[in-house]
Amino acid sequence: MRDLTRREFVLAGSVLAGCAAGLLVPGGRTGLAGKANAAGIDFAESSCGAKDKAGKKILVAYASRCGTTGGVAEAIGRTLCDTGFDVDTRLVKHVEDVSPYSAVVLGSAINRASWLPEAIEFAERNSDVLKRVPVAYFLTCITLYNDTAETRKIAQSYMEPVLKAAPAVRPVDSGFFVGALDYSKMNVVVRMVMKSKMKEKGVPEGDFRNWGAITSWAKGLIAPFGKPKIVG
Ligand SMILES: Cc1cc2nc3c(=O)[nH]c(=O)nc-3n(C[C@H](O)[C@H](O)[C@H](O)COP(=O)(O)O)c2cc1C
Repeated sequence: MRDLTRREFVLAGSVLAGCAAGLLVPGGRTGLAGKANAAGIDFAESSCGAKDKAGKKILVAYASRCGTTGGVAEAIGRTLCDTGFDVDTRLVKHVEDVSPYSAVVLGSAINRASWLPEAIEFAERNSDVLKRVPVAYFLTCITLYNDTAETRKIAQSYMEPVLKAAPAVRPVDSGFFVGALDYSKMNVVVRMVMKSKMKEKGVPEGDFRNWGAITSWAKGLIAPFGKPKIVG
């Protein structure tokens, strides 16, 4: 596969709004998180962790158009729960207050060579709180279908808009993950353009999420987030 360049995706994305959900309500705000919406897209949201532990409550917040990033967010959340943290996994648009959290994982799907606007806006709007707690960023994209030094560099460039928008927030770590291509979740225009682009690049339809890599990255957050204390 030829590497997907930033410019190519921006060009393709300039005529696209995202997945089908993105067209139901502008900005992908369907208000149907946690349930499949009309397009059959499930935006995962959950809470886990035992309530008898003192201390650390972690937020895993994410933005998505086709649902893939929610699965990644939940896997990160579950990994942190398994080590004793309380974790809320939420779409960014459903997080009203970040101040109760002692650490935050913030992630986004990549559309048009960037985090989604609501994730960038979330980092910017909450940067006064986020700069005081450990924060980790992650993204899902299709460029990493081929994991090479060159595609890693492209994936890193996708983080630039959020780093620029919220410069005071210094992530303790950044995770770069390959996502999924599911044409059934895209509206007809997006599907047509993406199919043609992906054919050109030799990227097949499929779910390429690497759960081992995601879990292993999440485990690396335990130390910077501070191991939770067990009480009682
Ligand atoms: C409209 C659109 C634009 C996209 N633009 C990019 C891009 O610029 N770079 C990239 O690597 N992947 C791009 N992708 C692929 C998505 O980032 C990838 O499929 C991701 O897993 C989608 O996450 P989601 O299901 O949570 O929305 C794009 C996908 C769509 C539908």
